[in-house]
Amino acid sequence: MSILVTGGTGYIGSHTVVELLEIGKDIVVVDNFSNSRPEVIENIKKITNKDFKFYEVDILDEEKMNQVFQENEIDAVIHFAGLKAVGESVKKPLEYYYNNITGTLILLKVMRKYNCKKIVFSSSATVYGNPGNPKYVETMGRGVPTNPYGKTKAMIEEILEDTYNADKNMSISILRYFNPIGAHPSGIIGENPQGIPNNLMPYIQKVAIGELKEVSVFGNDYNTKDGTGVRDYIHVQDLAVGHLKALEYLEKKGSGVYIHNLGNGQGYSVLEIINTFEKVNNVKIPYKITDRRPGDLDMFYADPTKAKNELGWENKKSLEDMCRDSWNFMKNN
Ligand code: NAD
Ligand code: UFG
Repeated sequence: MSILVTGGTGYIGSHTVVELLEIGKDIVVVDNFSNSRPEVIENIKKITNKDFKFYEVDILDEEKMNQVFQENEIDAVIHFAGLKAVGESVKKPLEYYYNNITGTLILLKVMRKYNCKKIVFSSSATVYGNPGNPKYVETMGRGVPTNPYGKTKAMIEEILEDTYNADKNMSISILRYFNPIGAHPSGIIGENPQGIPNNLMPYIQKVAIGELKEVSVFGNDYNTKDGTGVRDYIHVQDLAVGHLKALEYLEKKGSGVYIHNLGNGQGYSVLEIINTFEKVNNVKIPYKITDRRPGDLDMFYADPTKAKNELGWENKKSLEDMCRDSWNFMKNN
């Protein structure tokens, strides 16, 4: 029996594949390399000393997805494949809806055909919309995300719930990630986006290496501890372990739809991130305060209690670990 990992050469997928291989799981990875590189496959093997099957397949290609299920006995799917850039999704809504929604529909259709009943889905804190309370808890339900990317996540959550309503044998885990940063401690895999990054940590990494001049801090007049935006940052390796726990939980609980936040429960400001990065890595990160970025919220963080109580999961790594591992990866690459 194998676990299929879609988008398994991407940032979070690759770290999850490492953790799955480390505990001896049989896995099959599909990715179309739209936002990752083939070298990641060798890098994962280097870290784990283990082999796995890889298919360069677009999940929109139903015929090829059928072939993957035909050639492997797939018991569960972890579904990372998707486009994730918030700003780009505003400019290219059709591409985002097509890739993320249609891709998921095709995956679910193929799973149904091959009687595969378990799926773990990468959702996002963005589905809470703007609930008015910065501490996001699963009982709040879904809000209205402000961009097409976020809407695809909320829509897919609904599609998964409807899929369960039609087939009560499905076991579905929806994981709502907060802000993943950091890299594998080996420095061999991590996040290195092409061009100018949109997210804070990749931007800091490129300033640290001298590729970009300074970080623009988007606003210092928010109602937060130091006026800059506050988020719940979580080490990507902790996040990866969350997927193993979610799979175990599906095994234990059987059919149903289970929703969990994966965050550390604490908010850090933009300036705290910059200062910690400077301190633990002994590098200078020049920055300037600029206008707020349209659409940004002042502050949000997870209530991770449900994941702790039900999945037995909690984050282990500190902000210092996240900053050190992010820089270590960047230096090596
Ligand atoms: P990523 O872009 O690094 O990984 C996604 C992978 O999916 C890439 O390797 C890409 O090539 C692949 N892919 C995309 N479309 C595909 C398709 N049609 N067929 C096959 N492969 C395809 O992103 P990530 O940060 O690892 O995110 C993984 C998942 O987690 C995504 O669904 C993302 O929306 C979600 N998520 C990410 C964050 C974050 O901040 N990184 C936060 C919340 C949720
Ligand atoms: N920020 C800056 N300068 C930058 C980039 C970001 O000051 O150059 C600030 C932002 O204003 C925000 C914080 O740093 O306060 C974090 O911003 P990111 O862009 O890194 O992350 P977001 O919280 O905006 O969004 C991320 C993911 C989304 C996801 C969301 C909730 O990119 O996909 O977390 O999980 F939906």
